[in-house]
Amino acid sequence: MTMTKNVLDIKDLTINFKSEGKELSVVDGISFSIKAGETLGVVGESGCGKSVTSLSIMGLIPSPPGRVANGTIEFEGKNLLDFKEKEMRKVRGNEISMIFQEPMTSLNPVFTIGKQINEVLLLHNEMNKSAARNRSIEMLKLVGIPRPEQIYHNYPYQLSGGMRQRVMIAIGLACQPKLLIADEPTTALDVTIQAQILNLMRDLKEKTDTSIMFITHDLGVVAEMCDRVVVMYSGQVVEETDVDTLFNDPKHPYTLGLLGSIPKATEKIDRLYSIRGQVPQAGTVERGCRFADRCDKVMPRCYTEDPPLLKMKEGHQCRCWLYAEEEGGAEIDS
Ligand SMILES: Nc1ncnc2c1ncn2[C@@H]1O[C@H](COP(=O)(O)OP(=O)(O)O)[C@@H](O)[C@H]1O
Ligand SMILES: [Mg+2]
Repeated sequence: MTMTKNVLDIKDLTINFKSEGKELSVVDGISFSIKAGETLGVVGESGCGKSVTSLSIMGLIPSPPGRVANGTIEFEGKNLLDFKEKEMRKVRGNEISMIFQEPMTSLNPVFTIGKQINEVLLLHNEMNKSAARNRSIEMLKLVGIPRPEQIYHNYPYQLSGGMRQRVMIAIGLACQPKLLIADEPTTALDVTIQAQILNLMRDLKEKTDTSIMFITHDLGVVAEMCDRVVVMYSGQVVEETDVDTLFNDPKHPYTLGLLGSIPKATEKIDRLYSIRGQVPQAGTVERGCRFADRCDKVMPRCYTEDPPLLKMKEGHQCRCWLYAEEEGGAEIDS
């Protein structure tokens, strides 16, 4: 077996938010890793804790009301949670960068596209202005922006949503980060543009050795983009496996529910939310499985005992009592 180094190792991460005097764990003891060059999908319905997890990696949890209450986030072997803000600023945009769902809110409307890419380059690199300009235009070209010399001088409002997202990817990749976190990068875009952006990201993945954490609620996107997947539910990891197994041998009833609701390419409506019921608010399920109320296969013990993460096979884990008695269903946490 070849040993591939992990770029990111998250262990027992718990993130709390205070609301109305009470502190609730919106991310509750999650662990996962991302290997060098790998694209890890993080999936789950809205409110599962995906964005909060990615913000914690960037050191951007709004505090208060939020705080990392437990765990470690090791990036290349160093715990980012020990970094001071000044050190994190060197990591952000340089070694780890992030692209968000809505590019308009992350681009500054009063500066040109060129200035905004230059800024990232000049912040992290020894580079004069003309070298930065050349590199910026090169980046715009790389992400498939036509007439990059002209777009360089444009303001964000002059570009379409798809072009703005390309610019965000250019900014995200400008410093050749080791890890790119993409939080629903195509959700706000229409289907055609979405396909173009995904093609672009797949292309970039082949050309660079950047690891990608790809957050999405769309399993169709996972099938196209990812090597491995973590399924999150109500702040916990409920299943983790490689992409082939996710589609051919999924175990958790929640994963099955998500798979049953993949929108077909021809359908405009998002059918992901067709699993009956809703994700419980963090902290409202005191005992038992957090998915029990929505589960087709629920058993009495699901309401009384927290299911542990069980090993299905090497690299495949699932948090469900259905598999507790099965051979190989060894408990890997408690
Ligand atoms: N700034 C905040 N203040 C209070 N609660 C928050 C804040 N941001 C997120 N949360 C809580 O954390 C939970 C997870 O949110 P989030 O990570 O954005 O979910 P996802 O990205 O999976 O849709 C939400 O249910 C929300 O209640
Ligand atoms: Mg989110």
